[in-house]
Amino acid sequence: MTRLGIFGGTFAPFHRGHRKALEAFLKQARIDRCLVIPSGIPPHKQKTTMFTNAQRLEMTRLACKDLPHTEVCDWELSRREKSYTCNTLKWICETYPDCRPVLYVGSDMFLTLQDWYCPQEIFDRAEIAAFSRTGEDLTELKAHGEWLKQNFNHVDYTVYTEPPFPVSSTEIREKWEKGEDFSHLVPAEVYRYLVDLRPTQLYEQLEARLSPKRLTHVLGVMEEAEELALLHGADTEKARIAGLLHDITKEFTREEHFRLFEQYNYPLDENLKTNKNLWHAHSASLDLPETFGITDPEIISAVRYHTTGKADMTPLEAILFTADAIEPNRGYDDLEFYRQLAREDLYKAAYLITVWTMEDLKRRNLPCHRDMTESYEFLKQRFPHVTIDGEKQRMKHPTKGL
Ligand SMILES: [Fe+2]
Ligand SMILES: [Fe+2]
Repeated sequence: MTRLGIFGGTFAPFHRGHRKALEAFLKQARIDRCLVIPSGIPPHKQKTTMFTNAQRLEMTRLACKDLPHTEVCDWELSRREKSYTCNTLKWICETYPDCRPVLYVGSDMFLTLQDWYCPQEIFDRAEIAAFSRTGEDLTELKAHGEWLKQNFNHVDYTVYTEPPFPVSSTEIREKWEKGEDFSHLVPAEVYRYLVDLRPTQLYEQLEARLSPKRLTHVLGVMEEAEELALLHGADTEKARIAGLLHDITKEFTREEHFRLFEQYNYPLDENLKTNKNLWHAHSASLDLPETFGITDPEIISAVRYHTTGKADMTPLEAILFTADAIEPNRGYDDLEFYRQLAREDLYKAAYLITVWTMEDLKRRNLPCHRDMTESYEFLKQRFPHVTIDGEKQRMKHPTKGL
């Protein structure tokens, strides 16, 4: 009789631990055909997983698509109410009458099987494959299996051990949310899916906040920052997020900026108090964790200093500062010169953008913030003989302003 494996879970997202457990299940329990079943979650509870049913289904499909004799089943997802295992097994027995269902359960689940909804119906319909994650609880699992046999009818169980892979979906979701690297924790295809998904979700939040013109600008900065990160060995995902979110409070009123400054008791120096062009960089850095769930200090700092720069910028800070000035929609005369320079030497481009901005502020009789002066002094040490005209000549660009 065909041994039909049943491997269920929330899979939010499907990670490498799931994958290893599934492979061990297929092999050790001698499964001929396997149904991987993302569990149904009522819509009002979906927020806790951060993913919709469709997204969990897609990630599970991507994670399993190269596994032979395995199919992802959306039966539980397609039902509106929470699915109990005994109901799923009833449907499986009716749909696959010639198969012997073998239900995968982890240690903790096995130890509480008697408390599940209608446990006798589960034992009547499926063989139980109990998998120990550590191998340390084998005696306990076997003892529990014997206890189940004494207290229920038709209990058919086997205890196995799966290779340990200590990772939780919560940990991955946190890393994903903060823009931290989690590529080693999920299958490659799931990783790509999640990386693409993230800006999509943020984009929807942004659309509600920004004018179409500003939205075009931040998308330009996002792409520019990603490309610079790729060229200069920085984290591309963090660069994308920083680019996308750097101007989130740009269209705030004075009251809205100062509500945030007061809420966070944010120290404002004299220049910052009156220089309204700088408010949005600082208020955005305060708003990122609250509204967008971004707590990564590198991203927050890059956003805070994207208008002025600062002394000794990290690559991500320099990338955002530069990308903001050179994204393709800016459309000023020397754009191509700065874009080319940024690809060649990130910090040199940041330096010359600083030089030009300071000259422009001076021309317009506007104050220059200390953060920018300090950035200038720091970069000047690194490029003592570099000038805009000199670089243009070297790169054979005609001389014009930013
Ligand atoms: Fe900005
Ligand atoms: Fe900007």
